[in-house]
Amino acid sequence: MPKVTFITQDKEAVVVDNVEGSLMEIAVDHGIEGIEGDCGGVCSCSTCHVLVAREWMDKVGQPEDIEKDTLEFNPDVTPRSRLCCQIELTKNLDGLVVEVPSTL
Ligand code: FES
Repeated sequence: MPKVTFITQDKEAVVVDNVEGSLMEIAVDHGIEGIEGDCGGVCSCSTCHVLVAREWMDKVGQPEDIEKDTLEFNPDVTPRSRLCCQIELTKNLDGLVVEVPSTL
C-alpha cells in the first residue's frame, strides 16, 4: 500500500505508510495539524488545503471546477494548492509529498 509524506507547518516530515483512500481522511486519522476536513470531504470548507510538492504536481493533476470554486475563497492559494479531500491516495501516488501551508 502507498505511503505519503506530510510536511507539517513546523517543517517536520511525517511519513504515513500503508494507507490509501482520501488524503484528507488519512491526514485527520493521523493527527496532521492544520488539516481539519470540516465539511467531511464534500469540497466546501477549504480546511484541507495542502501544497503539492513540485515534483508531484503533474502526477496529482489539476483540480476539478468544484474544487477550484472552493479554493477561490482561500486567501493562501498558490499554483500548488489542492484540497486534499479531492486527492485519492492510490499506488499511482505512492511516495506523494504534500505540505501543510502555514496559517501565519
Ligand atoms: S474537507 Fe472540506 S474542502 Fe476538503
